[in-house]
Amino acid sequence: MNFTVAIDGPAAAGKGTISEQVAEAFGFAHLDTGLIYRATAARVLEGEDAIEAARDLRPADLRRDDLRTPEVAQMASQIAAQSEVRAALTEFQKDFARRDGGAVLDGRDIGTVICPLAEVKLFVTASPEVRAERRFLELSGKGMDVTRAGVLDDVVARDTRDAQRETAPMKAASDAITIDTSEMDIGTAVAKAIGHVREALAR
Ligand code: CDP
Repeated sequence: MNFTVAIDGPAAAGKGTISEQVAEAFGFAHLDTGLIYRATAARVLEGEDAIEAARDLRPADLRRDDLRTPEVAQMASQIAAQSEVRAALTEFQKDFARRDGGAVLDGRDIGTVICPLAEVKLFVTASPEVRAERRFLELSGKGMDVTRAGVLDDVVARDTRDAQRETAPMKAASDAITIDTSEMDIGTAVAKAIGHVREALAR
């Protein structure tokens, strides 16, 4: 069975948690596409050329333990604006989406560019302040030296760059369902997402 769930949205909107839980609920595979851009960025921060790093990306790169830092996130957003970098990473994502047994992909351009025919498209969002607070708690909980103001700056800078770039800008597909989690706990957001997938599967 081919069945794709595309989940897009701005930084730290809760896409990761929702995607993991949707994948678990239906036995689908999950790909966090942000990790691919972060892994490329981590190699760029070590001095590699972005396009070469993207073309040469390996599974071990995705398992690095330094991919969640704000420095890597910022670099990811910068290199993600280069069309050649995106082109080098497209085929892997499309293949993943078409795998047997169903797939959930989360990112910025899944419903618009990578999987325009996805059976379910969700756009998960929340106010910048709410997203920054969640990310601050996540990063400081991991022992990272971050401030609330710094995390908010990071989130807003990435959203602006990601939404304004020419190639595959972050935006909701015209047929996406928006879930605004500003005033919703994560359990409710997950339940809504699972409900939309269940409805589509029943069609
Ligand atoms: O976890 P968070 O929402 O903060 O970010 P992420 O999903 O790990 O993505 C990191 C960066 O990669 C984003 O700010 C985007 O610039 C880029 N990205 C992208 O351009 N396209 C995707 N499909 C996924 C991520």
